[in-house]
Amino acid sequence: MTKLLTAAQVAAFRRDGFVFPIRVMSAAEARGYRDRLEAHERHEGAAIQSNRRHKVHLLFTWANALVRHPLILDAVEDLIGPDILCWTSTFFIKEARDPAFVSWHQDSTYWGLDPCDVVTAWLAFSDVPLASGPMKFIPVSHLWDQVAHRDTYAPNNLLSRGQEIAVAVDEAQAVAAPLAAGEISIHHVRLAHGSAPNASDDRRIGLAIRYIPPYVRQLKVRDSAMLVRGRDALGHYDAEPEPVADLDAAALAAHASAVDRQFKALYSGTDKTEFRA
Ligand code: NI
Repeated sequence: MTKLLTAAQVAAFRRDGFVFPIRVMSAAEARGYRDRLEAHERHEGAAIQSNRRHKVHLLFTWANALVRHPLILDAVEDLIGPDILCWTSTFFIKEARDPAFVSWHQDSTYWGLDPCDVVTAWLAFSDVPLASGPMKFIPVSHLWDQVAHRDTYAPNNLLSRGQEIAVAVDEAQAVAAPLAAGEISIHHVRLAHGSAPNASDDRRIGLAIRYIPPYVRQLKVRDSAMLVRGRDALGHYDAEPEPVADLDAAALAAHASAVDRQFKALYSGTDKTEFRA
């Protein structure tokens, strides 16, 4: 018995390495989350960026609620089982008419997580039509080994190192994943994916939530994560606290500690000192 996905959707994920669209909330509920994000951005006078783009569920009570959203977790449970840790959550925002893009990559490249039973639920805060540069996937590439990537640090690349797959990717095979606000896609950590610039007149806002079962290990650092469903009898991760109030001192301290660990994993071997904008 599955909780949310159909048997055909589970089979599609196992076969292709991704599944979409999955509606987990109404457009109005998604709009409410977008309003919370944009109220914060207005207060700050800038789009959320740099370290604050990552592990946002440690900073904001509404983001903590999102990574625990019952329907998102039901879909994730159908793929990785009933014991679920949230490893991170990251905003991928392209402004209207924005040249920002995401090069072809496998998420597994720098994360240090093993084995590869890691999934990303990508929640659309805005409508994500084809013109806005939705994610695009190479079907069945989740069965590839880890392939070589080169770091470009290209200015408009939204990835941590601007990393891109070092061999040609056949664009003709790509499947675009347009979403409506309130829908998610789910993809496997080895799946080759990327996205083009936003040619639309609205922001393209997505929150990528990364989930792992407790048996997945972090090989690079002593890492932290947050149990969001079931139990963790293994203790491979230090437990992260839920925020009690948005951006209060305890939340900021917990976020700083967690992001520092993640930073050390993602940027090991480089001279970088904080996440790119
Ligand atoms: Ni990715």
